[in-house]
Amino acid sequence: HSRWPGLIAAYRDRLEGAADWEPVTLFEGGTPLVPAPHLSELTGCEVYLKVEGANPTGSFKDRGMTMAMTDAKYRGQKAVLCASTGNTSASAAAYATRAGMSCAVLIPQGKIAMGKLAQAVMLGAKIIQVDGNFDDCLELARKVTSDFPEVGLVNSVNPARIEGQKTASFEICDVLGKAPDVHALPVGNAGNITAYWRGYREYYADGRTNGLPRMLGVQAAGAAPLVNGAPVSNPETIATAIRIGAPASWNGAMEAKEQSGGTFRAATDEEILEAYRLIAATEGVFVEPASAASVAGVLAARKEGWLDSGLTVVCTVTGNGLKDPDTALLGMPQVQAIAVDPVAIARELELA
Ligand code: F0G
Repeated sequence: HSRWPGLIAAYRDRLEGAADWEPVTLFEGGTPLVPAPHLSELTGCEVYLKVEGANPTGSFKDRGMTMAMTDAKYRGQKAVLCASTGNTSASAAAYATRAGMSCAVLIPQGKIAMGKLAQAVMLGAKIIQVDGNFDDCLELARKVTSDFPEVGLVNSVNPARIEGQKTASFEICDVLGKAPDVHALPVGNAGNITAYWRGYREYYADGRTNGLPRMLGVQAAGAAPLVNGAPVSNPETIATAIRIGAPASWNGAMEAKEQSGGTFRAATDEEILEAYRLIAATEGVFVEPASAASVAGVLAARKEGWLDSGLTVVCTVTGNGLKDPDTALLGMPQVQAIAVDPVAIARELELA
């Protein structure tokens, strides 16, 4: 086995503009497609988790960032900017460092998970907390990069981001030997669902698969503009990664839904947290809350009959559970320390 070369090297001939690039890379992509026996049992489907938390900075954003940052390097840019609910900023900070560029991130104050903030700090980004939500931050980032074009915008409105992220679909088809019947993923700014659908279409058009999945986009109930059919001005959800009211890739998301015969669903915070705990407790995969929305959506869709048994279903779990320790420890009782005493430990384990 040779080492996984990173996704630009792996899929170079399928990536717009990448033919001659020397990539800015942390060897992202090549993430595991993990069978989920418990979820399969629950649904009567063959369920897989595409574990994107296994990327270098712990989320799928790295797929887009290797492309966006390599593109920025060849454009001669020295600085990049993004708006972020946390994962994009962590990824941008890491890849900017690799590229020798400076990076600034606009984040909604108090609304990003601790692990993500820690990453941006350690990776040397200039962190600007904004008294507003993600949508406000993205509007600011667009305005500033349009006024100062020497600064690159590395949100998913940057076409290179979508190009990179579509490679997850290639990997899934390569492993399954076919396209899944249904692909579920959490949707916030809607770049990722746009990217996956592009990836599936390209592989299909190229004869690499003989089918296309139906796309199931899942939003948090308090931030579900694509379900409601209109932007949400005050998005709220415990899944801070997808606390977004005005998705930039609205059209891409609608196209994915309509062309694939798919649907958008809303999952309540309660359903998201339930799925979050279920995935960890039964599959051994610890994801962040937003990521669990994909699984919450599949469980609800199965219950309501949108999803038939016997299908092959892939859920993208977009980010690592370590990103958000506060939510993981929510409601944990204070525990009393046990004495340094094997008898006391045995008693605690109900062995004696
Ligand atoms: N899951 C996670 C863990 C995310 O961080 C995001 C987006 C999504 C899902 C939704 O993906 O926006 O392409 O529909 N996070 C962005 C960020 C907004 O700033 O990190 P999307």
